[in-house]
Amino acid sequence: MRISVIGCGYLGAVHAACMAKLGHDVVGIDVDSEKIDALAASKSPFYEPGLDQLLEEVQATGRLSFTNDMAHAAGSSVHFICVGTPQKSGENGADMRFVDAATHALLEHLAPGDIVVGKSTVPVGTAARLASDIHRRQPEAHLVWNPEFLREGHAVADTLSPDRFVYGVDGGSEDHPAVAVLDEVYSVPLSAGTPRLITDHATAELVKTAANSFLATKISFINAMAELCEASGADVSRLADAIGLDDRIGRKFLNAGIGFGGGCLPKDIRAFMARAGELGADQALTFLREVDAINMRRRSRVVEVTRDLCDDSLLGKRITVLGAAFKPESDDVRDSPALSIAAQLQLQGAVVTVTDPKALPNAAKRFPELHYEADPLKAATKADAILLLTEWPVFRDLDPYELAANVTVPRILDGRNVLDAAKWRAAGWTYRGLGRP
Ligand code: UGA
Repeated sequence: MRISVIGCGYLGAVHAACMAKLGHDVVGIDVDSEKIDALAASKSPFYEPGLDQLLEEVQATGRLSFTNDMAHAAGSSVHFICVGTPQKSGENGADMRFVDAATHALLEHLAPGDIVVGKSTVPVGTAARLASDIHRRQPEAHLVWNPEFLREGHAVADTLSPDRFVYGVDGGSEDHPAVAVLDEVYSVPLSAGTPRLITDHATAELVKTAANSFLATKISFINAMAELCEASGADVSRLADAIGLDDRIGRKFLNAGIGFGGGCLPKDIRAFMARAGELGADQALTFLREVDAINMRRRSRVVEVTRDLCDDSLLGKRITVLGAAFKPESDDVRDSPALSIAAQLQLQGAVVTVTDPKALPNAAKRFPELHYEADPLKAATKADAILLLTEWPVFRDLDPYELAANVTVPRILDGRNVLDAAKWRAAGWTYRGLGRP
């Protein structure tokens, strides 16, 4: 099939490459020429494991091209909208400018029978609004809302073999003409047994925001338990292991620590609350305000524990922060808890050096006042305390004896509860976890 993918960021670049991998002819379209040039040269503009190799592999087949000219969408029968919906500056709601601009720019290139497929995370009601814009311009084109559930760091595998497909179509019926078209797009994963659910537009939009809100709630729940563990001397990791064995609860997303960040969960729960307010249903989501508050408290908690570790004063203390990305296997620093903590420590008088395998260039753009060093052992030189804030394997595998030789005082705060406390203590370190004795 001929497919256009509009927006080539974290979502669209991966989607375009994966659709070509599934055998389709794909054109990726983005207004950012630098991004397009990089992708055309099989260089992903961001770090995503396996993406560069996939770009190279599918570009060699001639099935994938990139352009900044929307006119190249003409001729495709399926158009994926993959642009971002960031938080509006100074407000909780989502900034819809990019979705609106992309859809409207596409309108003049639509032909009868074309399918526009929204993948971006949007406030409920967006699809109905865009569907009527599309209908006015091209009455024989259709809009499907087909939310994306990929995780950064696993984006290629999540796109090629997702755990479910949701197609939101006008009326929510299996007989809608767009259903068969999308089935053809996804025929490979569907034939491997991936479940697919047909819903109306609003339900499909809500599936995505509900899923992210549930994940955020799960993380904040365990972080609230971490607060109680801290107050009572209990161990939140063992607590999570024990409650997680109940398969109604499950162990995944019960890792307590410095909380969630990134370009999705924080802004999605806020946009969801804002939209509920517009719909007169704000009470339904007031609990998300608490989810957000618990999450943000983790960052202040780390600053306090670090001060405590450093003999009650951060002034002039040399702190090494292991991790800048919001999670491992990513160079994304959007709302990264690790960087936000590093910046707060620096504001309170500490001399902070940050290290990360992939995210240092992005981190330096966002917080130029921090020090950066790519080599973790060098970054730890003369440190008064080490903070592990993003659980990259290279940090989890650090040798406590080797690291101890570089620091001034062997003190470590394990912000992700991933280190073997006994091993670090045996090597002479003062070890502090979060929600662990
Ligand atoms: C999230 C969702 O997991 C995806 O399903 C969704 O498609 C995506 O948002 C999106 O909306 O596009 P992502 O932002 O890539 O994916 O990252 P997650 O793996 O969900 O992690 C989010 C944050 O939660 C990270 O900062 C991570 O460190 C933190 N986290 C995760 C915890 O603190 N504890 C956990 O147990 C799990």
